[in-house]
Amino acid sequence: MAESATLMISVGSYLPERIVTNDELAGFVDTSDAWIRQRTGIAQRHIVAEGEMTSDLARIAAERALDGAGIAADEIDLIIIATSTPDDTFPSTATKVQHQLGATKAIAFDVQAVCAGFVYALDVADAMLSAGRGRRALVIGAESFSKILDWNDRSTCVLFGDGAGAVLLERNDDARGYGVLASKLHADGAHRDILYVDGGPSSSGAVGHVRMEGNKVFRHAVEKLSSVMDEVLQAADMPVTAVDWLVPHQANIRIIEGMQKKMGLPDSQVVKTVHDHANTSAASIPLALAEAVGDGRISDGQILAFEAIGGGLVWGAALVRYGRPA
Ligand code: UT7
Repeated sequence: MAESATLMISVGSYLPERIVTNDELAGFVDTSDAWIRQRTGIAQRHIVAEGEMTSDLARIAAERALDGAGIAADEIDLIIIATSTPDDTFPSTATKVQHQLGATKAIAFDVQAVCAGFVYALDVADAMLSAGRGRRALVIGAESFSKILDWNDRSTCVLFGDGAGAVLLERNDDARGYGVLASKLHADGAHRDILYVDGGPSSSGAVGHVRMEGNKVFRHAVEKLSSVMDEVLQAADMPVTAVDWLVPHQANIRIIEGMQKKMGLPDSQVVKTVHDHANTSAASIPLALAEAVGDGRISDGQILAFEAIGGGLVWGAALVRYGRPA
């Protein structure tokens, strides 16, 4: 009997033109290229131009994902943008992008799960498409974190960058083992105070800045990510050796390599972009995916493992067999 699943049929991304190197940062914050590289793996980040907004990044990434699959915007039923840096408090950035794309038939909303936003939005979209709420969805991770950084706080401002990535999902009734194979999410609001923004509409009325006790977040990261990775492997009834690529959230090279080691994967099976993009929060996974699909490392039929953790704390993982069955 044919089985249904949500396929991931294409990916697109966009990075702002302006690149800021560690040395440039060291010109106005008390830091150094050596410290940033050694502690995080980051060498540079892209930063939005004056007037460039999260919706602009998201729209271009979405257009590229649509072009890649040869699908028109009015064939999309659902647009979810994972972002913690929306253009405005409301309406959602997703509705703005829906209009700009001409995706006239799509419903649209934002999901706010910070760095875990992409895995959260992917799970929501998969659940909705599985429940028959449309056939095609755009899941977009888009962030302008540079807008919520305290550029005097060296412990956070060196870590983040801006960008967007989008995947196109399609419900298929004869999936033949392709598509979203398993997905698991978690939340624990007890850890709110180790990573948050000190502002918002109902607290201060101001937008606020990122505050983080990085070493505390770090301690949660590998433990929670490896546990949720075990859960998705178990749910999909797959050994870790079935994974072709780990496409992790890109917060810190030491967290990525910690997961790589736990999973027993060689360098040739892990996508690492933190060096060039820094931490782009909800955008980091689809940005990494777009890079590895674009340069031919990832191809149709391969099994991808996604994982991410972010402020909340929230975390999750997903296993996806990429592309469409031949
Ligand atoms: O994506 C969302 C989730 N976020 C994360 O996953 C981030 C997880 N955390 C991390 O990646 C790491 O904890 C950081 C990269 C943020 C920090 O690395 P660390 O090894 O945990 O360093 P630390 O915070 O313990 O700080 C060590 C030292 C401190 O100095 P003292 O107290 O030892 O004298 C800091 O003041 O490094 C100092 N420091 C810096 N020095 C130069 C902190 N930031 C900087 C900086 N440049 N930018």
